[in-house]
Amino acid sequence: MTAAVFCGALLMLALASGGDAAGEGGISFEYHRYEEMRKALVSVWLQCPSITRIYTVGESYEGRELLVLEMSDNPGIHEPGEPEFKYIGNMHGNEAVGRELLIYLAQYLCNEYQEGNDTIIDLIHSTRIHIMPSMNPDGFEKAASQVNTHTLHKKKNIKRISTECSSTHEYSASPDDLVFKTLAKAYSSYNPVMSDPNRPACRKNDDDSSFKEGITNGGAWYSVPGGMQDFNYLSSNCFEITLELSCDKFPPEDALKQYWDQNRNSLVNYMEQVHQGGSKVRRPCQSTIVRGACAELRHSDRNLRTDGDYWRLLGPGNYKVSASAPGYLTVVKKVAVSHSPATRLDFELESLEERKEEEKEELMDWWKMMSETLNF
Ligand SMILES: *[C@@H]1O[C@H](CO)[C@@H](O)[C@H](O)[C@H]1NC(C)=O
Repeated sequence: MTAAVFCGALLMLALASGGDAAGEGGISFEYHRYEEMRKALVSVWLQCPSITRIYTVGESYEGRELLVLEMSDNPGIHEPGEPEFKYIGNMHGNEAVGRELLIYLAQYLCNEYQEGNDTIIDLIHSTRIHIMPSMNPDGFEKAASQVNTHTLHKKKNIKRISTECSSTHEYSASPDDLVFKTLAKAYSSYNPVMSDPNRPACRKNDDDSSFKEGITNGGAWYSVPGGMQDFNYLSSNCFEITLELSCDKFPPEDALKQYWDQNRNSLVNYMEQVHQGGSKVRRPCQSTIVRGACAELRHSDRNLRTDGDYWRLLGPGNYKVSASAPGYLTVVKKVAVSHSPATRLDFELESLEERKEEEKEELMDWWKMMSETLNF
C-alpha cells in the first residue's frame, strides 16, 4: 500500500453472555470454520459484487489462504485522497470473537449498502476498507477442534479466564499518544460494556483502573517485542489499536449475537475516524508524481514516504510539515489541524533543475537590465 492506511486490529475476547443465535438482517450468528468463513466471504462478494473484492495476502503454514475482503466504491484501486482502513481478526488462533464479528461486519455492510443506508453508503464510497477476519486460520482450526462443541453450542455462564500474556506494566507514551487515546475511545465509548465503569475485570489480578473508559495503553497492558502493532506504526505510519473484545476466547455460539449488538456501532464508528481530525496531507494532482517523496512532521521523528497522496492522523493543533524528494527543493508548511473534518495540505515540489534554469534566467534578465541602464 502506498499511502493512507489507518489500521484497526481486532484480537480477542470479553464480557457477558446471552442473546439469541438467530439470524438477523442476513447475518448468521454462528461460528465459521475455515471453509465456512471462505464461503461467507464469497457470499458477500456475490451479493455485493460492485463494491467488494476478495484477495489473499499469502498462505498460512498449513496452506490455508489468508483472505481479505475489500469494500470500496472502486474495489482494487487506490484512489488519490481516499483513506484506507483495515481490520484484522483472530491474530491468536484461539481467539474467536473478533474473527466472527468481522464476518458479521462484512455481511452487515453489504446488506445495509443494498438497503440504501446513507451512513454505510457514505462510508464505503469515501473509504477503502480491508477486512481480514482471520490472520491465523491454522490456529483457529486447531482451537475449534479442541473446544468441546457440546459446551460451545449450549448457553453457559462465561468463565473468567486469565490470559497468558506476560505483562510489563509500564506506560509507554508514543509521540502520538493523544491520537491513540482518541482512537481507542472512538471504539470503547460506543460499546456499552467497555464504557461501563462498573464492569467486571477479565483477569483475576486485573487492576481495572488500568482500563479507564475501557481503554489502556499498549505498553501498560502488555508489550510484544517486535509485535505487529509497533511494526505497522513505525514502518508504514499505520495506526493500530488492539481491541480486547471478550474475556472468553470461545464463548458459546448463542452469545455471539450479543457480542455483535455490543460492538456493531463501535466497529462502524471506529472506521469513520479515518475521516476525522487527523491531518490528511495530500500531494497535488499534477501530471508528474514525484517518486519516493517524503513528508516529515516536525514534532516527531517519523517520516512518511509517499508516491502520491499521504495521510497522517493527528490530534488538533498546529504542525509544521516538510516535504522533500531527491532532486527537488524541500518545502516546509505550517498547518492548523482541527478535530473535524480532515485537513488537506498540498505540496508542489520544484525540481532543482527547474530552479537552476529560473535562476539563470533571472541572472540574464538582471544582466540585460544593468547593461541597458548603464548603456553598455
Ligand atoms: C444505518 O447504519 C448506521 C451505522 O451502522 C446505523 O447506526 C443506523 O441505524 C442504520 N440506519 C438504519 C435506518 O438502519
